[in-house]
This record gives sequence, structure tokens and C-alpha cells, in this order.
Amino acid sequence: ESKRLHLDNVLGEPCANASLAYPPTSHVTWSPHAIPFQKPQSLLSFSYSPSRLLEFSDSAMWYYVEPPGGADLQHGYDRWIRRPEEKGRIDGLLRGIAKIGSDKEKRGESSTTWLRDVGMVSWRGVMTKILTAPYEERDPWELNIMLLDGTLYFEEYISDAKIREKNNIPPKQRIQMYYGYSFESFCTSDRPPDPRGRMPGWGGDVDTNVQWCCVAKTKLADTRMIIGGEVDCVRERFDGTTDNFVELKTSLTIRGPQDEPRFEKKLLKFYFQSFLLGVPEIIVGFRTPSGRLTTLQEFKTLQIPRMVRDKPGSWDPQLCLGWGSRFIAFLKENVSSPPTQDVPCIWRASFTPKSGVTLKPLDQSGVDEVVNGEDRFGFFPSWYINGFMA
Ligand code: A3P
Ligand code: MG
Ligand code: MG
Repeated sequence: ESKRLHLDNVLGEPCANASLAYPPTSHVTWSPHAIPFQKPQSLLSFSYSPSRLLEFSDSAMWYYVEPPGGADLQHGYDRWIRRPEEKGRIDGLLRGIAKIGSDKEKRGESSTTWLRDVGMVSWRGVMTKILTAPYEERDPWELNIMLLDGTLYFEEYISDAKIREKNNIPPKQRIQMYYGYSFESFCTSDRPPDPRGRMPGWGGDVDTNVQWCCVAKTKLADTRMIIGGEVDCVRERFDGTTDNFVELKTSLTIRGPQDEPRFEKKLLKFYFQSFLLGVPEIIVGFRTPSGRLTTLQEFKTLQIPRMVRDKPGSWDPQLCLGWGSRFIAFLKENVSSPPTQDVPCIWRASFTPKSGVTLKPLDQSGVDEVVNGEDRFGFFPSWYINGFMA
């Protein structure tokens, strides 16, 4: 009884105009067939402390500072405090949503009514995987999906074997991964940059437990959505909007035309990761294979599609948004709650590159995998469900 959504007709379709801005504020010609995506609006930010406590504060927010030229990205590698790989739990995002609800309640509004017209809730990383699926040639993914009070909730399904694998990556690959975090440290400070020109430098040893997250609302076609994600830093100050958000990335230095298509393919993921949370700027630190920072390039997120158009390795964001809205429509059509609310009903969407997605309800053995002995209803922590019963 599994259902399939094929990719077959997606890649061959003629493409509407690439999205260069969020409508309707766009001054760019907007194709009548284009799928609109509303500019994300920040609702709440929160922080994870070094001991991985979730706090409703901006204690883990960083300010952007220019990194020192030629920085050694291996710096501090042996002092890296690594957050262990974990299941792709949605709990932190649910805590954020509950906080938004309790703030509403304090103002005399209902804590859950605002969620009635929200079609889906997801971490940004999951949405990035969904939207970039038409161009994904290598990595499959699996999602658990539940329907609660008319809202779809997504959680990445990461098997125990996959977690073990991620915790045991070879040292060489682990150093490459560290370069990204160490670049973040070189680019950030816990204070706004000194207008007299603070000397750039190391922002502090890397602790990947510490994260600053933003919860935003947006809309893809006619589906309102709540998306949460980590934000690397802000320029100058945080004014409650996403307008000063900055995403930091590292990439191997481009040495010639042969390297360009590979970088342009990477830009697809950079683009959607930032676009989905309204992050307007991406700063890429190019590095040598051994982790020496060479150059810095700033990208305006909304201009990236235009930069890659008509190039080898190019992609069309409208095709991704079209696929994404079809995927959500497919889920709305097929994902249902159980007849009685006593039984959790989890659906599993499995993506196979270059093929498509299959959707099936999980049987009890599958449910056990995600319940994991905790006080849960499917993948929801019980306290979240109780908030809806009250
Ligand atoms: P880079 O971005 O420079 O690759 P993010 O870019 O999302 O802020 O993530 C910060 C860093 O975490 C990345 O740096 C990379 O080193 C690591 N990272 C994030 N996602 C990863 C993934 N799927 N696999 C391996 N490393 C990842
Ligand atoms: Mg990040
Ligand atoms: Mg980053």
C-alpha cells in the first residue's frame, strides 16, 4: 500500500523564470507559472548552551568579523568539543513553537489556534533536502511524517547504523569537516565589530553543542510553513528580522574551469539552505586542501540563481519549488491520522536519487524504532501533544 511520487516528469519540464526575489516585493518580472515563496519572517530565536540546554535567549548568537587572510583552519582541532551525532529529532523546534504559543497566551490569544493554518513544520535542513531532490544524484534520505491537528510535521529518519557511521568517520574526513567550524570561529566574535577596526582573529575554540537557531514562518505556494534552523552569525546587530543573517561556508579554492561546475552544484544547496530561512548573505571562505584560507567571496543569496544560469552544472530554483509543492500536495493527499487518536501513525517517505519518493505507513516495528523508550506519541514528545489537548 505504499504510494510513489516520481521524479520523471520533473527534470524534463520547461522551467519558469528563476526566482530572484521573494514575491510580491519583487521588482523582477514574475512568471505567471512560477511558484511563489514568501519572504521568511522571524518569529523566535533561541540558543543551545555548551551543555546542550535550550535557552530562549541569544546567548549563542555571533557577530560577523572578517577572518584573517591565510588563516590556518586546522587551528584548535585537538580542542574541538564535538556534539555527538543524534537522531534528527524535532524536539527543539517544538519547544520553540510551544514558546511562541505561550507568548501568545500571555497576550490573551490562544496558544495553538495560530497553527491551524500552518500546513507543515520542519527543520530547515530537511526542507533543503526535499527541495534539492530533483538534482540530487548521490544521497538518499528518509523522513518520518506525522499529521497533528491538520499540520504535517517532518523529522529526518536516521537509522542507528547511520548514526554509528557518522560517529566513526575517518580522521581525514573529520578534519575536512572541522575546517567549516574553524572558519566559523575565525569569522565570528561575541561582540559587535569594533568600528575602529578590531583585529580579526580566532573567535574561540569550537564547541559544536553551541548553536543559535531561528524559527521563521513562510509560505510555499498555498502552504504556510514553520521552519527552524541554525544561523551562523549576524552582521552588526540582530534587529528581530532575518535581514542581517549571514551564512558561512567553506569550499576548495577554484583553480580552473574544470572546478567550476562542481562549485555551481554546491551553490544549489547553499542557496536553498539560506533562502528557506531568509538569510540574505552567504560568505564563502575558499581554502587549500590542507586548510589554508585563500580568498573570501560574498554572495547575495537571491542573486545566486542568476549567477549559475546557462552555465555547466546549472540548476533552476523554480523547478525545485515546483517539485517541493508537488511533494507537499502528495503528502496532504496521502498522509492521514489514524481513526482513533490513541494510536500514533507515522508515515515514512523514502527518497531515491534520480527516481523519486515512496510513502508508506510504518508498521508497529517501525514505530518502536522511533519511540525509543521515551514518553512519546510517535515521534512527538508527549508534552507537545498534551498542549493540543488542553
Ligand atoms: P561548511 O559549511 O564550510 O561545509 P553549515 O554550513 O550548515 O553552517 O555547517 C557548518 C559545518 O558543519 C560545515 O562547514 C561542515 O563542516 C559541517 N557540516 C554540516 N553539514 C554537514 C554534512 N551533512 N556532512 C558533513 N559535514 C557537515
Ligand atoms: Mg551553520
Ligand atoms: Mg555555515
